[in-house]
Amino acid sequence: MIKEELEKLKKEVLEFVEEIRKNSQDSIGEIKKKINDIKVKVFGKSGSITTMSKGMKDISPEERPKVGALINEVKNAISDKLTSLEKECEERELNEKLENERIDISEPSKGVVKGALHPISDVIDRLTDICVSLGFSVVEGPEIESDYYNFEAMNIPKNHPSRDMQDTFFINDNILLRSQTSAVQAREMEVRKPPFKIICPGKTYRNDSDSTHSPVFHQMEGLVVDENISMADLKVMLTTLMKRLFGEDTTIRFRPSFFPFTEPSIEVDVSCPTCHGAGCSQCKGTGMLELLGAGIVNPKVLEMSGIDSKKYRGFAFGFGLDRTAMILNSIGNIRNLYKNDIRFLEQMK
Ligand code: DAH
Repeated sequence: MIKEELEKLKKEVLEFVEEIRKNSQDSIGEIKKKINDIKVKVFGKSGSITTMSKGMKDISPEERPKVGALINEVKNAISDKLTSLEKECEERELNEKLENERIDISEPSKGVVKGALHPISDVIDRLTDICVSLGFSVVEGPEIESDYYNFEAMNIPKNHPSRDMQDTFFINDNILLRSQTSAVQAREMEVRKPPFKIICPGKTYRNDSDSTHSPVFHQMEGLVVDENISMADLKVMLTTLMKRLFGEDTTIRFRPSFFPFTEPSIEVDVSCPTCHGAGCSQCKGTGMLELLGAGIVNPKVLEMSGIDSKKYRGFAFGFGLDRTAMILNSIGNIRNLYKNDIRFLEQMK
């Protein structure tokens, strides 16, 4: 009797599952609900299998093992069937999800908003690239500097009139914000053995502010120390540097000048890259732009830093990077370099 009942139950459930399977219009939610209903009907508290198991106690001890085995067999067959249907359901669910969330990788992208280098970083990058290709090493020095390295070791003793040209921010009598990258010269000469070639791009500070001067600005210092250095070496080096930076057709002019740390000293002008020497607003009609100071290192400076001036000579140069960035990008007011106005920087792309 119970055997027939079990067979009937098994048949019914298996048929029902097949029907669900065939009925592909059902949503996954609906199928899951149907599976759950069957589970409750068969295995629930008052489900058919549960009731039959409870009824085992009324069966004679001889029959009991057989009936028990049969219940188990039907129970397993039903659960296997339901589990495989559940698996199919999960697979279908995953496939539907993948299909719905499919990404079309051939679709054109929205584009990435690209930034640009700040004009001063760009100038520093360009100049260091050129100088490194000419054999220079790049060094750094402190921006909070001692009076000794910024002035005295550069042959500018206390009370020297040339200090007036560099309106310096003093922190106390001996500590200041460096007013020139020349301060790295003595630091490097103290620790290096000639021959050497160094450049030092970096920030410098002076109490000065108008359309072409900013209290914070940038310079790049260059120093070469070797035997038999002459003005010719300096001239070739600067001509190469300027032509690589502003273009091969640039003309260069050397004018005699004075700096306490070089003897002789020169100032270097380049033909205006905007008008190529014809005269325009950028060069104030002169066709030339004043760009840097340079010279043969004063033997006193070498000696103060422990370099034998009988054996070695040097040349040095220093120039303003803000001015260079302004010339290269036709920027009229130095303040634009420090305002970080995104509309201005966007134009540098
Ligand atoms: N330090 C100088 C200035 O700030 C620039 C300069 C001139 C640097 C001549 C040098 C040099 O190395 O040789 O005005």
